[in-house]
Amino acid sequence: MIASWKLWFGLVFICSLQCRVETQKLQVEPLDLAALRGSDVQFIANVEGSWDVMTWKVGKLLVLTIADDIIGSGRFNASFCYNDSRRCVEFKIYNVSHEDSGAVECELQSHGSLTAQLSVQESGTVSISGGNVTVAQGQQVTFECVTAGWIPAPNITWTQNDETVISSLYNSTIIADGDKFNSISVLNLTAVRNTKVECLANIAALKAPKSSPVFVTVVPKPADWTVLIAVVVSFGSCALLVLLILGIYHCYKQRKEKESNYQDEMRRVKTQSQLSVISADEQTSGQVNETYEPDNQDINIHVGAEPGFVKHRHVTIV
Ligand SMILES: *[C@@H]1O[C@H](CO)[C@@H](O)[C@H](O)[C@H]1NC(C)=O
Ligand SMILES: *[C@@H]1O[C@H](CO)[C@@H](O)[C@H](O)[C@H]1NC(C)=O
Ligand SMILES: *[C@@H]1O[C@H](CO)[C@@H](O)[C@H](O)[C@H]1NC(C)=O
Repeated sequence: MIASWKLWFGLVFICSLQCRVETQKLQVEPLDLAALRGSDVQFIANVEGSWDVMTWKVGKLLVLTIADDIIGSGRFNASFCYNDSRRCVEFKIYNVSHEDSGAVECELQSHGSLTAQLSVQESGTVSISGGNVTVAQGQQVTFECVTAGWIPAPNITWTQNDETVISSLYNSTIIADGDKFNSISVLNLTAVRNTKVECLANIAALKAPKSSPVFVTVVPKPADWTVLIAVVVSFGSCALLVLLILGIYHCYKQRKEKESNYQDEMRRVKTQSQLSVISADEQTSGQVNETYEPDNQDINIHVGAEPGFVKHRHVTIV
């Protein structure tokens, strides 16, 4: 039992060594390749030591064989990197299409095989709907970036004046459209100064992302009319109130003056009447009735010489 385990482990160990040696003999570069549809791609196989037959498969299809001659067809071709050596082989696929996506396998008879991955991609359109905008300072602006016809779905990022916008400021939604992908990304920014805003859509096959810039022109905040009106109205009512108070005060003062004139007049009248009483006394030896009631209009001075005889004197002040 123990002996058979030892034998089994021994076999696994030998195999792993053998396999490693085999993969070291064959190298393929790149092992992962993204290319745009319609472009030409190439894989390079390096082999240590001599070999007789090399085959290339795209997907399940055998597309090329190299033995004494190179036998390829159509969009598939190969050549030796150097004239005098079979060490290095360039395998080419022209005008790649989506059907070429997937495994690309290089098999070296009696040396094993290596599989690379090819991703045929497609770049679509990218645009910020609405185009250039003019906004008031401090206003929040929403930008909508629409991409269409991409394979696979592009990675969307935004820049503001060529600086990356943090991802919490935007949301992207991907919508599958047949075998292609559309997306909508919504960015919210607060307008502070004139800004270039760009939406970038990228896939591995592109050397640089596709972008759509828009320009944001920031204008000073327009006067807030409600505030202005409120200010005018409150100032106006304040002024009116002050005027009203001044008016009332003025009226009150005038009336006060009038009243004191009246008192003066009354005093004057009183003195006059006393004088006249004195002169009347000399003639009639009458008495002055001191209890006179000052009426607003009339002042009655009762001069009685005898009971039952009342002399009226009317003074009217207007
Ligand atoms: C590339 O392949 C497409 C079909 O996948 C074909 O329509 C087109 O004509 C080819 N272009 C060239 C240059 O061969
Ligand atoms: C947006 O503004 C830029 C620069 O101000 C200008 O070059 C561009 O043509 C404008 N785009 C549109 C769609 O008006
Ligand atoms: C993104 O979506 C989430 C959830 O739908 C929402 O809470 C968030 O405010 C959105 N952010 C932006 C920048 O639109």
